[in-house]
Amino acid sequence: MTFTVLTLFPELLTPFAATSIIGRAVDRGLIKVETVDIRDFAGDPHRTCDDSPYGGGAGMVLKAEPVGDAIESVLRRRATKPRTVYLTAGGAPFDRDLARSWAAEGRELLLLAGRYEGVDQRVVDLLVDDEVSIGDYVLIGGEVAAMVVMEAVARLVPGVIQAASLAEESFEGDVLEYPQYTRPAVFRGVPVPPVLLSGDHARIREWRRGRAAERTARLRPDLVRRSEPCSN
Ligand code: ADE
Repeated sequence: MTFTVLTLFPELLTPFAATSIIGRAVDRGLIKVETVDIRDFAGDPHRTCDDSPYGGGAGMVLKAEPVGDAIESVLRRRATKPRTVYLTAGGAPFDRDLARSWAAEGRELLLLAGRYEGVDQRVVDLLVDDEVSIGDYVLIGGEVAAMVVMEAVARLVPGVIQAASLAEESFEGDVLEYPQYTRPAVFRGVPVPPVLLSGDHARIREWRRGRAAERTARLRPDLVRRSEPCSN
């Protein structure tokens, strides 16, 4: 699966694409991470990509021409049309279900990382398929959000991580993951819960289920409400 990030700061993506599980997946040919520098499509010697907003107001807007040209330069080179996604605080919530559906679709993701006050709306209207936000806060730019989307999708691409890790993790079945422990058996005087050393796998499963339910009720009561059956 290919991820192509359109950005004013491609250097932010370089260590991301070369490190840890993502780096290994790239090396193994399971995913590709490419960047397109929007500034390469600016039409002037200063490589200007922003301008003040029509109608007034604070801040600057990413200009339509360089962004539009950057997107179209990628679309022209592809036999299959990528899904073009604009990362913006004003987008629809990005969540597990979206990550799953994009990973299953397997289509290239063209991730447009916004900066300033946003991208000229005409580019969004003409060329963007989805607008997504990674949370209810405003980032300085969309690059970190693009990395979040890439991690969430790439780890669902077959072979990127072990299938067993996917089965038991947070949000599977709307329940958070149970707490994990490893050696040493006692840390700063705090022992590992004895049941985990018992070798009794049925009891361990039961204990983990209970801890996961307790954690979910405490940290994500909204998930508990969501999974409760309707009474009418
Ligand atoms: N750009 C700025 N804030 C963002 C957010 N919360 N999600 C996605 N892109 C963004």
